[in-house]
Amino acid sequence: MMFAPASHMPLSWIHPREKIIHRWFESQYWESIANTLERGGFDMLFLADSLHGGNTPDQIKYAIQFPVHDPVALVTYLSATVKKIGFAVTMSTTFSPVFSLARTLSTLDHLTHGRVGWNIVASFGTGEARNFGLDDLPAHDERYDRADEYLQACYALWNSWEDDAMVMDMEHKTFADPSKVHRADFVGRWYKTQGPFTVVPSPRRRPFLFQAGQSERGKSFAAKHADGIFSVARGRTQMRAYCDDFAARAERNGRDPVSIPILWASAPLVAASEAQARERYDEIRSRIPLEASLAQMSAHWDVDLSNFDIDRSVSDLDVPGIKGLFEIYSKADPTVTLREIAKTYLSGGDRNPFVGTPVQVADAMQSFLEEGGGNGFQITPSYYAPEYFADLVELLVPELKKRGVLRDPYSGTTLREHLTSEA
Ligand SMILES: Cc1cc2nc3c(=O)[nH]c(=O)nc-3n(C[C@H](O)[C@H](O)[C@H](O)COP(=O)(O)O)c2cc1C
Repeated sequence: MMFAPASHMPLSWIHPREKIIHRWFESQYWESIANTLERGGFDMLFLADSLHGGNTPDQIKYAIQFPVHDPVALVTYLSATVKKIGFAVTMSTTFSPVFSLARTLSTLDHLTHGRVGWNIVASFGTGEARNFGLDDLPAHDERYDRADEYLQACYALWNSWEDDAMVMDMEHKTFADPSKVHRADFVGRWYKTQGPFTVVPSPRRRPFLFQAGQSERGKSFAAKHADGIFSVARGRTQMRAYCDDFAARAERNGRDPVSIPILWASAPLVAASEAQARERYDEIRSRIPLEASLAQMSAHWDVDLSNFDIDRSVSDLDVPGIKGLFEIYSKADPTVTLREIAKTYLSGGDRNPFVGTPVQVADAMQSFLEEGGGNGFQITPSYYAPEYFADLVELLVPELKKRGVLRDPYSGTTLREHLTSEA
């Protein structure tokens, strides 16, 4: 989700059943959704983020990832009121000074007792750069090179205290042993930080790290740093190819791929009957105007599509933004046109759409994982009304539990334990 009227599906702020306007900007709305998800045993509430939008009239009109409020503030609030579920929060390596990001996340790791993850993004929109006083973003691959160095700087800060450095010895009036608190003295090409770090190490030292890059450079970055992966591979064949490729990359980095959960983008729509689910799905697809889709594609791809002939093949389009979300279409079919992409881009067509009864959706999810690999799904809500989440918890979760494919929820307490415990 995003701390916004909608996330990936821009008109998800419109309720398909009753025309209720939900108050997504209020804490009670989020508290109720997080409580519902916790009731269903979800590992986490993942908050994506974007620091741009509102660059065109259509982005404002349809709420194309705009407006977006600060997800860190929301997670701080929610983690105090909803006690078990984990949270993943998105922060940008391009726009946050490394020391403040490392400090905020370490503080959150303490406050949540390890229930927080960081979705590492290097950002993709020129509009974001302009909001932060830059004329332009660094080029696509260089963003990842910089992010790589940024992570090294974070590790240097997070590891600058030895485990037993904080003694809090009242008798000797010694808070910390200075010989065990070190400077980071990190000097890179783009980032520099001295330390010592100002946050005492938590038992985990750092948040759980997620990454969602889909391009070649993105995947090599993820294989090096991520504790967990968000992938948009669609269907069993793409999923299997992604898993095999990722496993090889992780092994080249000396890491065990089995220990790194992969969560696939999905957009399930579950209802008591198949006809009802189909009807809702059709309603959602038909409500999205072409120009809203195009506005979102422009924003994601960081390309002004307004002068592009939408009936021409996209094969010669150069995409500097989210390459991965473009390539899942262009690589599957080089002749695909913008109009064809736009028809499904916002209704879940770019992620695994599971539409049907609890049995049908559970069948599909189960067979996708068995044949495609990976560990689970991240769910993009088709609409942001509380009923959407209640349907998942009341209809789908019991069916998955019956099959023994959901682990016991919250047998541990940290996000890492939620994500890595066995079914
Ligand atoms: C499932 C998913 C979630 C993402 N969430 C965010 C996000 O919250 N904020 C953001 O700036 N980018 C987000 N991205 C974009 C990626 O982090 C990355 O910047 C983008 O995919 C460009 O990298 P690529 O060209 O390697 O795919 C997301 C991508 C995917 C696939």
